[in-house]
Amino acid sequence: MIFYFTGTGNSLYVAEKLRDELDDTLVSIASMKKNNTYEFDLVSSDYLGFVFPVYYYSIPSVVEKFIEKAKFINHDNKKVFVFLTCGATTGSAAERCKVLLSKKGIDLEYMFAVAMPDNYILLYNIDNEEKQWKMIEQSESEILRASEIIINGDKEDYITIKGPFPGIVSFFAHKAYNRLRNTKKFYALDSCINCKLCEEICPEGSIEIADGKPTWVNKKCSHCLACIHRCPVEAIQYSRKTNNRRRYKNPLVKL
Ligand SMILES: Cc1cc2nc3c(=O)[nH]c(=O)nc-3n(C[C@H](O)[C@H](O)[C@H](O)COP(=O)(O)O)c2cc1C
Repeated sequence: MIFYFTGTGNSLYVAEKLRDELDDTLVSIASMKKNNTYEFDLVSSDYLGFVFPVYYYSIPSVVEKFIEKAKFINHDNKKVFVFLTCGATTGSAAERCKVLLSKKGIDLEYMFAVAMPDNYILLYNIDNEEKQWKMIEQSESEILRASEIIINGDKEDYITIKGPFPGIVSFFAHKAYNRLRNTKKFYALDSCINCKLCEEICPEGSIEIADGKPTWVNKKCSHCLACIHRCPVEAIQYSRKTNNRRRYKNPLVKL
């Protein structure tokens, strides 16, 4: 069973490829959270896998809460792996996942990561399409290599893009993430067409439509930025930073 979380499709792209290579099933963490489903029987699966993006050199809060709450029945003798997507470097995000799983008596044996187009529009503009395609194409061999390693059983940490001082960087960045992931600077322009997609896709249930426009009803969210990137008319903004920046969706998956 491969659990995935995605805001803009990179992690779904990786998860779908791994599912095909490993011949396993995919489970959406966001859907499970919506349905309040936290118990999973792995009896008919060979794997327990997690695929998600790196946020602030750490784990998206929605993923962290899910792993903490989830019960994985019959996890003994499964091959356990994490595959992270990031814009450039992971810090010690995979180690954080390892700690969370070890609290459940599960040993995270295989760790992988790949750089994909960076969707953190609050800090930078999104790369142009040419660069996006290059990164997506380059990721394919990494994904295939990871599935071969998992099938062959050479347990190890294969992440080579942690960046400098990953432990320290992740420690401080994670603290910053918890402070910064508030919702008060999100808003919708008058060009909003009231399609309600943002409300539907928000993994935190943080968006509700009021008077034909999204409003952010929770003080904090995961900051996955799916609402900003996937709005069909680019009406959703965050402070003034996002007005003139490109939006991003992985072009090879159906979101
Ligand atoms: C809130 C947030 C924080 C991020 N932090 C990092 C980071 O610390 N390091 C990094 O390389 N990329 C970072 N990124 C970029 C994403 O990890 C990357 O674009 C990822 O592939 C997005 O996955 P998705 O399309 O499945 O949502 C961040 C993105 C967001 C939205």
